[in-house]
Amino acid sequence: MKKLLSVLLAAGMVFSVTACGASSESTASTETNTAEAASAETASTETASGEFTTVTDGVLTMSTNAAFPPYEMTTDSGDFEGIDVEIAGAIADKLGLELQVDDMDFDAALLAVQQGKSDMVMAGVTVTDERKAVMNFTDSYANGIQSVIVLEDSDIASIDDMQGKLIGTQAGTTGYIYCSDTPENGGFGEDNVIAYDNGITAVQALMNGQVDCVVIDNAPAQEFVKANPGLKILDTEYANEDYAIGVNKDNTALLDAINGALAELKADGTVDSIVAKYINTDSGDAASSTAE
Ligand code: ARG
Repeated sequence: MKKLLSVLLAAGMVFSVTACGASSESTASTETNTAEAASAETASTETASGEFTTVTDGVLTMSTNAAFPPYEMTTDSGDFEGIDVEIAGAIADKLGLELQVDDMDFDAALLAVQQGKSDMVMAGVTVTDERKAVMNFTDSYANGIQSVIVLEDSDIASIDDMQGKLIGTQAGTTGYIYCSDTPENGGFGEDNVIAYDNGITAVQALMNGQVDCVVIDNAPAQEFVKANPGLKILDTEYANEDYAIGVNKDNTALLDAINGALAELKADGTVDSIVAKYINTDSGDAASSTAE
């Protein structure tokens, strides 16, 4: 498959060169060249099965927010690692591309793909209807649960106890979106929710007494609680979600190519083994492995 894709990729390159040739010739004889260019274009779409474009030739640019362990984080030496980073690397390999990770705020990572500045956003992104309206999603590769982190001696023992409390979240995340919704819609009202730049800042605010709880995806919640004594996670889950990769609405060829690679990586156990490397599923951790 990898071979097939690179062959098709090479075919794609030939076609784009042809297209360029046609348009640069257009100074010579106008009419025929418009037709030539048009036919060159048709030719390149005809081979569309394996052909796609990326922001930078030969590179798969992934926008993310690398403050979300174990999905994406930075090592002490400044490298990127995590479940998403490794799956993205495996996808890039399959597509014959080099992975480039662009680290930014979570909102910015979602926006980058919509504006065509990145090829995909992979950041533990939950599939929602609102996001589906502005980007395409690949098949899901993991599940997430919105959990609630509290201080060990907190009087919050259930979701209901959160009414009227101050809730910390990460800006732009589903944790923020759900919590800031109206009580009729299962939220707690905007005034009761504070959005922080990233998850760990929200957890620090909890430890400093600035908020009463933090709502965040379970896998990073586990990591933050492990790293900071005095915190615990409520047993009840606030929401259950699917993670997928977001791709620009106009780039369905790339979406298909990523889906093809992802299906292979699920089928041959690569996705499972990457997840298992970072999450111990035996201990009841939330982010279970592959979806469907
Ligand atoms: N799953 C949540 C969402 O999609 C949070 C994702 C946050 N990801 C990150 N890398 N900070 O809204």
